[in-house]
Amino acid sequence: MKILITGGAGYIGSHTVKQIIESRDWDITVIDNLSTGSLKAIDTLKQIHKENNRKGEFDFIEADLRDFGVIEGIFKAKKFDAVIHFAASIVVPESVKNPLKYYMNNTVNTTNLIKLAVETGVKKFIFSSTAAVYGEPDEVPVKESTPTKPINPYGMSKLMSETVLKDVGNAHPEFKYVILRYFNVAGADIKGRLGQSTPNATHLIKVAAETAVGKRDKMYIFGTDYPTPDGTCIRDYIHVDDLANAHILALDYLDKNESDIFNCGYGKGYSVKEVIDTMKKVSGVDFKVEITGRREGDPAVLIADNTKIKEKMGFKPKYNDLELICKTAFEWEKKLVTA
Ligand SMILES: NC(=O)c1ccc[n+]([C@@H]2O[C@H](COP(=O)([O-])OP(=O)(O)OC[C@H]3O[C@@H](n4cnc5c(N)ncnc54)[C@H](O)[C@@H]3O)[C@@H](O)[C@H]2O)c1
Repeated sequence: MKILITGGAGYIGSHTVKQIIESRDWDITVIDNLSTGSLKAIDTLKQIHKENNRKGEFDFIEADLRDFGVIEGIFKAKKFDAVIHFAASIVVPESVKNPLKYYMNNTVNTTNLIKLAVETGVKKFIFSSTAAVYGEPDEVPVKESTPTKPINPYGMSKLMSETVLKDVGNAHPEFKYVILRYFNVAGADIKGRLGQSTPNATHLIKVAAETAVGKRDKMYIFGTDYPTPDGTCIRDYIHVDDLANAHILALDYLDKNESDIFNCGYGKGYSVKEVIDTMKKVSGVDFKVEITGRREGDPAVLIADNTKIKEKMGFKPKYNDLELICKTAFEWEKKLVTA
């Protein structure tokens, strides 16, 4: 199979490419503009490809999805069977300040990619969506059928892409898609080869790991007056390697099944305080934490109902362990400091 992976130099993309290299003989092409992705991750993936002696090829092309002509040329030359589309802008507060960046990069570029996929006969398309499409959900755990009502341009830009996929899928039955709605992604490769390098990340576990290694002098808890047992927000943290595996399962799923949408999470939540305590425990560092007011648009509890992905796709989490998630994130952060 010939597969295109956009955003493969980024955090989740690089872990997924790694798993494909380690388990399949597919021809892999990664397109990334390196805006937040890292060339080091690509070098690591080339190394893993070499070590695994795979029959499939691994090709990295530095390109920007907004350059339609360039991307069209790549699609026509390579004739992909499948696409996994990770590339996007992903910082929620930035999306409020600069919505056009998000609608252009996330919605317009995705629409162009879907157009090229349909025109060149791509059969399977896996799309990185987000729990942000649910906004502040009416029910928890959140099901795929829970109403979508994003509360920021990031979530809306992803929901609009989902709509394009659904309409195009209806009109072109030979073009099948899986939309994966990720909850909070965290952790790093167990062997320490890859991790999250995203600059200015706002993700709690990444920020806690950065504070533990001394990159930040302190971190903040935004609100301790939520209706939760310890007053801080509760989230569903999924290890990046379990999430990466869901993409391979999704590609296999489309061999015999129709297009669909799946939540990706463990169905269990941890509070901000629990995460910080766990990071302190695994790192052995009692870093400084300051309590401040709530942030706008943070729902108290966000947990996935993952029944559908488990039952229909056979998704079996391997790393459902907060200590392991924090430990791998911390080890990766230490490596970044010394690199
Ligand atoms: N990290 C999370 O917790 C999380 C949660 C929900 C959904 N997601 C989604 O997962 C996907 C991957 O996120 P990530 O955390 O790996 O982020 P990331 O920033 O590490 O990866 C995104 C990658 O896309 C590339 N990219 C961005 N715009 C591009 C463009 N126009 N052309 C080519 N390459 C481009 C970047 O250089 C980067 O390598 C995104 O679609 C994001 O919305 C992430």
